[in-house]
Amino acid sequence: MGSAGIPLTWPALWFSVDHDDDGPDAILRMAGLATPMALRVAVTLGLADRLLGDGAAVDDVAAELDVDPVALDLLLGHLTTLGVVARTSTGYRTTPFGEHLRADADNRLTDLLHLDTAGGRAELAHVDLLHSVRTGRAAYPRRYGRDFYTDLDDHPHLRESFDRQMSRRFRDQVPRIVAGVDWSRFASVVDVGGGAGSLLAAVLEAHPDLRGHLVDLDRTAAEARRAFDARGLGDRARVTAGSFFDPLPAGADAYLLFDVLHNWDDEHAHRILARCVEAARPAGRVLVVEGIGGLRADSESDLTMLVIFGGRERRLEEFRALGAAHGLVLDSVTELTDHRCVLDFRIEAAR
Ligand SMILES: C[S@@+](CC[C@H](N)C(=O)[O-])C[C@H]1O[C@@H](n2cnc3c(N)ncnc32)[C@H](O)[C@@H]1O
Repeated sequence: MGSAGIPLTWPALWFSVDHDDDGPDAILRMAGLATPMALRVAVTLGLADRLLGDGAAVDDVAAELDVDPVALDLLLGHLTTLGVVARTSTGYRTTPFGEHLRADADNRLTDLLHLDTAGGRAELAHVDLLHSVRTGRAAYPRRYGRDFYTDLDDHPHLRESFDRQMSRRFRDQVPRIVAGVDWSRFASVVDVGGGAGSLLAAVLEAHPDLRGHLVDLDRTAAEARRAFDARGLGDRARVTAGSFFDPLPAGADAYLLFDVLHNWDDEHAHRILARCVEAARPAGRVLVVEGIGGLRADSESDLTMLVIFGGRERRLEEFRALGAAHGLVLDSVTELTDHRCVLDFRIEAAR
């Protein structure tokens, strides 16, 4: 759990701001980049795993990791200040707090902080926030020379880490998302940009008469196919490897967009919705599951969507307008989890 009792999820690592401490030092503590980077470098080097035990000598660790011993000692000094390692008579060891940073800690920190994962790499785009604020555009392409999803296409290990990150981020909350939507209204649902299929699989397991169809990019679609087969859902879950900017499987009762639109600027969000409506006509519904800006706002996530994707957590009226441009009428908004709502759109008759 984050410090405010909120589950850690990417991209935002929520934190609480203690306004009892309202002097300039409090601002400096919030603004400093050294601590976040020290933790990220510690994860990238695997220090929490390497320093299990009584205490390892800096020179030995530096030689093993092929890093500079003096610089490593400086890093370990700051990690000691943070309480994730401690000095011993023989060197440094990982503290119980620092064990959260172990690769096998099963808490998602590795996928969020390791600098060679999709999440850890993307987070560095915040360094170019000024560019995003000046232009309203993503900073990721400026930093890495291509947009986020193209970068994942070119680096299979980043794509793998992203799919893992997405599948795990709502692991504990999937039952609430499944229970919070009346899926029994539908005989078929298309999960548009459905990732590795963890939500659709859970929905299909809860509704044995429902058929599902997931659309995502090649590698992720293959991962979803494997996941559905492994869960014995192969005959009810189809998978199409393709783009949601192209025509979608037509004629389903519902088109689900779960954490998809906030990755895109308005132009692309319109193109995705247009594909959903084209496929859903005349009577299908479009279900958008996302955080809603201004409602239990997660302001940090807003900035992360901006710098990585040029997207944002849209406000309710923005969703309404986005849908209206495609003949979608917002029938209801239901809170599913602390940070996700379902917006249930129907297609306006006579369009
Ligand atoms: C933020 S993830 C959400 C995944 C899934 N809906 C979930 O909530 O776990 C966005 C998904 O959109 C997919 N995506 C990105 N561009 C796409 C495109 N052009 N066509 C289809 N899927 C795309 C990504 O591969 C990724 O799986």
